[in-house]
Amino acid sequence: MIKIAPSILSADFSCLRDELEKIEKSGADMVHLDIMDGHFVPPITIGAIVVSALRPHSRLPFDSHLMVSNPDRHIESFVEAGSDSITIHAEAAPDLEASLARIRSLGVRAGVSISPETDEKVVLKVLDKVDMVLVMTVHPGYGGQKYIEGMENKVRHIREAANRLDIPLDIQVDGGINSETIKKVVSAGANVIVTGSAFFNSNDPAGFVSLLKRSAI
Ligand code: DX5
Ligand code: ZN
Repeated sequence: MIKIAPSILSADFSCLRDELEKIEKSGADMVHLDIMDGHFVPPITIGAIVVSALRPHSRLPFDSHLMVSNPDRHIESFVEAGSDSITIHAEAAPDLEASLARIRSLGVRAGVSISPETDEKVVLKVLDKVDMVLVMTVHPGYGGQKYIEGMENKVRHIREAANRLDIPLDIQVDGGINSETIKKVVSAGANVIVTGSAFFNSNDPAGFVSLLKRSAI
């Protein structure tokens, strides 16, 4: 079953509470929160204080994607803010296994992400230590970019490895996903789909979510 995770990066930040309602009413499955620190990626977005303020206004799981250097410094505050899953970048974590163990020890789902230039071998080593792998399908930092062709091959390799090990892994894709690009990532084995600009640019978000779910079949 495909899960849809709209990213508030493309939402109207002057009314995030309404935007959360839009996500919930659309039939999407979780809220994707893009946390950027101005160091791992150039922009700065939101911190735990905003996540915590938003938490009471949605029933959906909060999926925090930490595009930050030194993620260990921030894991705890994003758990306390109400994240249900925390994804860190392999490129930013000097002791990846320890950071993932820390996330799980705090009682939330642990995810590891790789940027387009990073080899998927990095995550194959930790498949038994994560609940989700996030394959970036654009360079992290900005919404509205074009899907990078070939990223679906990484998804396929990761799915094959997880199947060999009999691990029921979530594989998430993030960046440039629309009703066309979703087909190749889902057929490669992705099951959690982030959508930012395409979702918020749509004037029928519920129709868009069901279109994505249907396109994926
Ligand atoms: C980019 C973020 C994405 C972004 C996706 O660094 O991680 O979640 O919001 O946006 P679209 O769907 O517009 O590519
Ligand atoms: Zn993201």
